[in-house]
Amino acid sequence: MKLWVLLLLSLLLLEIQNGVSQQTKGKKDASFRPGRKRVKGRNPKVKDKEVGGKVQSILTQVLDKGRFLRLGDHIILSPGKTLELRCKGTKIGWAYPSYLDTFNDSRLSITQNEKFSQLTLTSPSAADTGEYSCWVILCDGDECEKDPDHTSTTYIYFTDKDELFIPSPIHFEIVFLRPDKPATVPCRVTTPKTTVSLHREMPPEEILADGNLISYNPTKGFILQNPSHEHMGAFYCKARSPTKNTPQVSTKYQLLYVEVPSGPPYATIQASSNEVSGGDIFNITCTVLGEPEMDVKFKWTYPGQDQRPVSIQDSRRLINRGVGQITRISESVMIVDDVETIDFGNYICTAKNDHGETSVATKVNSYH
Ligand SMILES: *[C@@H]1O[C@H](CO)[C@@H](O)[C@H](O)[C@H]1NC(C)=O
Ligand SMILES: *[C@@H]1O[C@H](CO)[C@@H](O)[C@H](O)[C@H]1NC(C)=O
Repeated sequence: MKLWVLLLLSLLLLEIQNGVSQQTKGKKDASFRPGRKRVKGRNPKVKDKEVGGKVQSILTQVLDKGRFLRLGDHIILSPGKTLELRCKGTKIGWAYPSYLDTFNDSRLSITQNEKFSQLTLTSPSAADTGEYSCWVILCDGDECEKDPDHTSTTYIYFTDKDELFIPSPIHFEIVFLRPDKPATVPCRVTTPKTTVSLHREMPPEEILADGNLISYNPTKGFILQNPSHEHMGAFYCKARSPTKNTPQVSTKYQLLYVEVPSGPPYATIQASSNEVSGGDIFNITCTVLGEPEMDVKFKWTYPGQDQRPVSIQDSRRLINRGVGQITRISESVMIVDDVETIDFGNYICTAKNDHGETSVATKVNSYH
């Protein structure tokens, strides 16, 4: 049960991370795509300045006395003071740290005025540190889309002397390592000037960031380019600020290695008995071994479909396979009670995940 709570929380976190990294990815891709207008706007040298009288950041911070600050790459603010962001346009979309939505935070409000949209966040704290962006929504009839040429993003640090790391409601986070993609230990900081190091608990040692295979980005955390078995275990980050002597320690991160490659589910099917008589009870179990955070949906096709009541129970759990490798077992069990003639035949289980689907079948005959 506890593991499930952890997993759910970590899924939530993954989602948050994904949200942020997807945005970043989209941005990067855009700058590599040739022949696109937005490339100009993404050139760091000319950022936030007018280019050909056209592209400029549409995101500003409302300061005191009606003054505005056009926002660049990042900005460092003090917690406590209400944050007001404005974005020019008659129809504006916003993105902000997703936990503000998850917890339906009433401190956040967005109002669209005639010529601009305003995002207000009252009593911001170190935990609100993250990426904030806005974009113009273009509509053609009912179809609306994000205007890539009028999108602005800034990373806001709410620097707190007592919270060097962005506080997390979770004390123990799970980070999945995959052989095919970089992994991130998300110990983000509330000020970019912090010196951060990565440590293994057992045996205690510091993992040195070489800036290449292992690097640190204050807006993301430690990025492991080629995660492997040797990176499994419990880790934490340590931060030192220029103004304090005692270092601060982050939440703990459990790094788990996921061996299963991405693909359609690997499914197996088994009947408790393939030969039954009228009045018997039997069950059929469809099992999928897969990636820990990959959701699997089951669909059944069977002889008595829509005519016979059957009971179907879906369940999932994590299992540890050998040296700390974690796998998710998803199971669907169909129970057929009080067998009738109509129940003899093929039972087909179709398991589906984001990568595709797999069908497996077994035949149940009448007992001779
Ligand atoms: C969020 O909170 C507002 C007001 O507090 C409420 O009207 C709304 O239904 C809530 N939304 C969700 C998804 O809980
Ligand atoms: C399926 O049938 C087997 C054999 O009769 C039984 O041991 C098992 O508990 C059944 N499983 C379920 C979920 O009913």
